Order: sequence, then structure tokens, then C-alpha cells
Amino acid sequence: MTRRKMPEGVAYRIETERLLLRCWVPTDVVAMRASLDRSDSHLRPFIPFMKNEPRSSAETVELLRTLRASFDRDEHYRYAVFDLKEKALLGEVMLLDRHGDGECELGYWLDVDHTGHGYATEASAAVTRIAFELGKVDRVELQCVPANTASGALATRLGFTLEATLRDRSSSPGGVQDLQIWTLFASDYDGTLASKLELRAFDCCGERVI
Ligand SMILES: CC(C)(COP(=O)(O)OP(=O)(O)OC[C@H]1O[C@@H](n2cnc3c(N)ncnc32)[C@H](O)[C@@H]1OP(=O)(O)O)[C@@H](O)C(=O)NCCC(=O)NCCS
Repeated sequence: MTRRKMPEGVAYRIETERLLLRCWVPTDVVAMRASLDRSDSHLRPFIPFMKNEPRSSAETVELLRTLRASFDRDEHYRYAVFDLKEKALLGEVMLLDRHGDGECELGYWLDVDHTGHGYATEASAAVTRIAFELGKVDRVELQCVPANTASGALATRLGFTLEATLRDRSSSPGGVQDLQIWTLFASDYDGTLASKLELRAFDCCGERVI
């Protein structure tokens, strides 16, 4: 999802009914470390970047600098997800530029202490709306392994269609597994949870873009 495809502005901060999403910053190091450390066994089977965990605090600061830089360069938009008061880090949601123009990949994880409240669905719906309405993408893709039934349920709630199951294609630390490809096309976006989600989105100067 390239910058030239977001003529109305990049959403640095998104507010939904219960959540605040914003780009990561290096000062999130303490919150990110605490969340990844307590969630390690919950995330490791399904999240590719857990291969590099646990990181030291210094390595985590470097990671956060990289995430911020990537966001500013309109490569990968990775958002920290907080409660509205920005007190509790609940997880992360991301729009990844992996498949070229016209498409982005949705990714997400929740802190182990914050599953079961619909936060991942709400945050994912928010960035899906951003991808279609600001990013003007033709499709959003989501990849997960068949064993990840919580992720498949989320994809279904958002109106994604399971298009294919590729054999032995997952790179997750859980080992070699099949990989499901779920897709939501722009033509199927109207009427989905994301299209109906109320949100306020702001660019890097605090100007409202949605
Ligand atoms: C995938 C993952 C984010 C899903 O978490 P989750 O808590 O099931 O998803 P949500 O936050 O959307 O919550 C949905 C659940 O909350 C319940 N819920 C409670 N209150 C709710 C509310 N107000 N609104 C919506 N749902 C609510 C839903 O009924 C649902 O429960 P159910 O699955 O028992 O039906 C989580 O399991 C995770 O972090 N896994 C490890 C990382 C991972 O796999 N990432 C994806 C890789 S493809």
C-alpha cells in the first residue's frame, strides 16, 4: 500500500469506540517488552516475528525505531493497540505491504491477558476500513494456519473469504504447516463490519482524515 495511493493522508492515530491505535514509538519499549514476555507462549506458535524473541530492551528500542521509520516511509503500517486512555497495551494490528500495489496484508496479535473481548476484531476492522477508504486498495489479504481457529473466526467475522490452503507454506515458529489465504475484495467491502465501524482517524499533524 504505497504513499501515492493514500492521497487523503496517512492515519497515524485511530480512535474507535473502545480503542486507540497509533504508530509505535521507541518509548513503548517497556510496554512492548512486558506484553511480549508475558504472551510469549501464546504468540510463538503463530507469529513469525517471535522467532527473534525474546529481545533485550536495547534490541526492542531498535525494533521500535524500525517500525516507526517503516510507518513514516509508507512501507508497513504497524499500530500499537491501547485502551482509550492509552494506559494498557492490548496488542498490535498491522497493514503490511507485502504483495505490491493494490493489496495489503492484515496482521494482528493480542496480549494474552486481553483476548476474548473483541479487541482484535475491532482493531482489525478499523485498519481494514483505513486500507479501503484511505489506502484505496483493491483487496486485503490475511494469512493464518488452519490450527489458528481464533484467527480464522476473526477473518470470518470481518467478512473475509477463505480462498486457498497452500501446503507446507507457513513460516511460523510452530514449524512447517499449511497456510490459509483469506481475502476481502473492495467489491465485497460494503456492508462488512469494517465498513460500518465508527472511527476517527488523524494524520501525523493531528488533522482528521476520516
Ligand atoms: C488471533 C487473536 C488475536 C484472536 O483473539 P480473540 O480474543 O479471539 O479475538 P477478539 O479480540 O476479536 O475477541 C473475540 C472473542 O471475544 C468475544 N467478545 C467478548 N466481548 C466482545 C465484544 N464486546 N465485541 C466482540 N466480541 C466480544 C467474542 O465472542 C469472541 O469470543 P469467542 O471466540 O469465544 O466467540 C488471538 O488469539 C491471538 O493473539 N493469537 C496469537 C497471535 C495470532 O495468532 N495472530 C494472528 C496470526 S494469523
